[in-house]
Amino acid sequence: MKGKLRKGVLLAGGNGTRLHPLTIGVSKHLLPVYDKPMIYYSLSLLMLADVREILVITCPKNQANFKDLLGDGSQWGIQLNYAIQDEPNGIAEALIIAEDFLDGAPSCLVLGDNLLYGHSLTMHLKKAGAQTEGATILACHVTNPSAYGVVDLDGNDKPITITEKPSKTTSHNAVPGIYFYDETAPRKAASLTRSSRGELEITDLNRIYLEQNQLDVCLLNQGFTWFDTGTHASLNEASDFIKAVEKRMGLKIGCPEEIAYLKRWVTAEAIIANMQTNLNSDYNKYLQYMVNQNPDNHQ
Ligand code: TTP
Repeated sequence: MKGKLRKGVLLAGGNGTRLHPLTIGVSKHLLPVYDKPMIYYSLSLLMLADVREILVITCPKNQANFKDLLGDGSQWGIQLNYAIQDEPNGIAEALIIAEDFLDGAPSCLVLGDNLLYGHSLTMHLKKAGAQTEGATILACHVTNPSAYGVVDLDGNDKPITITEKPSKTTSHNAVPGIYFYDETAPRKAASLTRSSRGELEITDLNRIYLEQNQLDVCLLNQGFTWFDTGTHASLNEASDFIKAVEKRMGLKIGCPEEIAYLKRWVTAEAIIANMQTNLNSDYNKYLQYMVNQNPDNHQ
C-alpha cells in the first residue's frame, strides 16, 4: 500500500451549538470569516499541502449547501467527494467514514472550523505530509489549553503525553485541527471506544500513535496564528484578523482560486469563467488582479 498519494478528509459536521442561533439554519462552516465562507480556510490548508482528492463530511441536513458552494472541486483543480456523518459521534469517526474513500492511502484530516496562518505554513504542511509512517500533529501555544487536546513535550519537542481538554495542565501546547496519518488510521480509529462524553476522540487515536512511538509533533512558533471559530467571540476575532491582514497586505488568505492558480492546477481563463457574479464582488476583483499580477501562470 506504500506510495499512494495522501488524500484529504475535511470534517464539517457537528451541530455548532455554541454558535446558536447562527447555526440553526446553516452549518457554521458556511458562515463568513470576513470575506469568504469558513470552510475555504481549511480547504486551503489541504490544497497548500498538495492534497487534491478530498472527502467532505457533513451532517445530513446541510450536505446540499456544501455541494452548492464547493461542487466537484474541478474549478480549483481538485476532486471533491462527499459523505455524511449522521450524528456528531466524534472527530475520529471521520476516518472510519472515510475508510473506503481512502482505500489504503495516507490521509490528512482537517476540521472545517480551523484557521491557521503564519510564517512557513506551507513548509510545515509539506513536511508533515511527506511522512509515510505514523502520524504528525501540530502544536500551538495558547492561553486556554483546557479547551483543546493538549500535548506535553520533552526538551527535544518529543511528545510525552496527550490529553483531551485537561482540567489541569502545565503545557500550553494545544493541538490544532489538522492531523496527518499513515494508512493505518481508519483501522486504529475503528478500535477506539467512546469517551465519557460519548465521542470517538481524536486525542485517543493520537495516543495510540504516541504509545507506538509513532507520533511526531510540529511545534508552531510565535509567528503563527491559529483560530478555531467555534464561538461568537472567536468567529469575530478571526474575521477581524483576516480583515486586518488582508487590508494591510492587499493579498487574500484562504483563497482556493489563488492557490490553485499559483500551483498551475487551473488556468486564468478557467478562473475568470468560473466567477459566478460580475466584478462587483471584491473577491472577484481580487481574482482578476491576482491573475494579472501573475501572467507567467497563464497556460
Ligand atoms: P466541535 O467544536 O467540537 O463541535 P461543533 O462544531 O458541533 O460545535 P459545538 O461544540 O458548538 O456544538 O467540533 C470541532 C469541529 O469538528 C467542527 O468543525 C465540527 C467538527 N465535528 C464533526 O464534524 N463531527 C463531530 O462528531 C465532532 C465532534 C466535530
